[in-house]
Amino acid sequence: MKILVTGGAGYIGAVLCDRFLEAGHEVRVLDRLYWGRKPLEALAARLEIVQADVRAVDPDLLDGIEGVVHLAGLSNDPTAEYNPEANWEMNTTATAALAAACRKRGIRRFTFGSSASIYDGLGDGLFDETTKVAPRGAYSESKFAAEQALLEAADGSFAPTILRQGTVYGHSPRLRLDLVVNTFIKDALLRGKLFLHGGGWMWRPLVDVGDVALAHLRCIEAPAGSLGGEIFNVVHENFQIRQLAMLVAGSLSLRGRPVTLEDAPLPALNRNYRCTNRKLQDRTGFVPRVTVLESIEGILRHIPVENPTELAHPRYYNIAWMTLLEEVQRSQAGFDSIWSSGTAADLPV
Ligand SMILES: NC(=O)c1ccc[n+]([C@@H]2O[C@H](COP(=O)([O-])OP(=O)(O)OC[C@H]3O[C@@H](n4cnc5c(N)ncnc54)[C@H](O)[C@@H]3O)[C@@H](O)[C@H]2O)c1
Repeated sequence: MKILVTGGAGYIGAVLCDRFLEAGHEVRVLDRLYWGRKPLEALAARLEIVQADVRAVDPDLLDGIEGVVHLAGLSNDPTAEYNPEANWEMNTTATAALAAACRKRGIRRFTFGSSASIYDGLGDGLFDETTKVAPRGAYSESKFAAEQALLEAADGSFAPTILRQGTVYGHSPRLRLDLVVNTFIKDALLRGKLFLHGGGWMWRPLVDVGDVALAHLRCIEAPAGSLGGEIFNVVHENFQIRQLAMLVAGSLSLRGRPVTLEDAPLPALNRNYRCTNRKLQDRTGFVPRVTVLESIEGILRHIPVENPTELAHPRYYNIAWMTLLEEVQRSQAGFDSIWSSGTAADLPV
C-alpha cells in the first residue's frame, strides 16, 4: 500500500517509516522537518519526503494514498504549554482538517498517534478505552479534542483508529532524550545521578518505539474499516518512575558506572496514570514485546557511552530545540550551524 506518514521524520516516525518499508509498503512522509532530513538519511532513497506543514496540507499529497499514519504535531507538555495556540492548530485543528480531506478522497485507513496522558488526573486505577477521561494541560486536551474530531468524522468512507500511546522509550535515528527512560540514561551517563521527583512514586504506561511502529502497522494493515472508530491503548507495561530509575541505574552499574538516586521536588505539572493494553491484544492480536531493560541496552549500543557530552545537545530535547529554532529564525543563523554545534553550552538557549 502507499502510506502517508505525517511527522515521519520524528522520533517515532523515523522508526515507523523503516518498519513500513520493511513490510513492503511505499511511504510518503509529510513533515515540517523541525529536525531536518538527517533522521531519515538511511531511508531517503526509498522514501518520498515532502517538507510541509500539517496545518496546510495540499490535497494533491493524498493522490494515490491508501492509508495515513498521523503523527505530526507538538509532542509533549512543555512545547504545548510554550505555544498553546500553535499546539491547538497543529494537534487538533489540523487533525480534523486531515480527516475531512481523507474522507473526501475515500481514504479509509487512518491511524492517529494519540497519548495515554489523556488518562492523567483520574486518581488511582487501571484505565481502559471506555474510561470517561478528564484530560488536563494543553497537550492532553488537544489530543483528546483531536480524537473526538476523528470519531465524529468516522463513517463508511473514513475509518480512523486512535492509538493512545504510552510514554515511549528506545532508540531512534531521531533520538529524544526528554522521555523518562531515555532521560534517565542520559542523566546516568552525564551526571551519574538520577532525580526522583516526589520520590518517583508516579505511575506511567510505557512502550518501546519499535512496538509503537508495529502497532500502527498492524492497524493500517487490518481489513479496511474493521478497526474504524476504535480507540486502543498501546502499552507494554505500567511502571512507577522509581522502578524505571532503578532499571537504568542497574543497567549502568553492570557496565561499571555507578549511579545514585536522589529525591527532588515535584514539578508543577506532575502526571500519574496507568492503563491496560488488553483491548489491543484481544482485537488485533498485537502485543508490545520489547522490555525496558532490552531497550536500555539498545540505546546504549547507539550512543557515545564513553564520551556522553554530546547528549546535552538541545536537538535531543523538544522544548530546547523548538526555542532554539525560534531564536535562529530571528537571528537568521542557519539550521546546519546549530545542528552541528557541539554542546548545549555553545548555543543560545
Ligand atoms: N514519544 C512519546 O512518548 C509519545 C507518547 C504518546 C504520544 N505521542 C505522539 O506521537 C506523535 C509522534 O511523537 P514523537 O515522539 O515522534 O514526536 P517528535 O516531536 O519526535 O516528532 C514529531 C514530528 O512531527 C513534525 N511536526 C511537528 N509539527 C508539525 C507540523 N505543524 N507540520 C508538519 N510536521 C510537523 C516534526 O518535525 C517531527 O518530525 C506525536 O503526535 C506525539 O504527540 C508520542
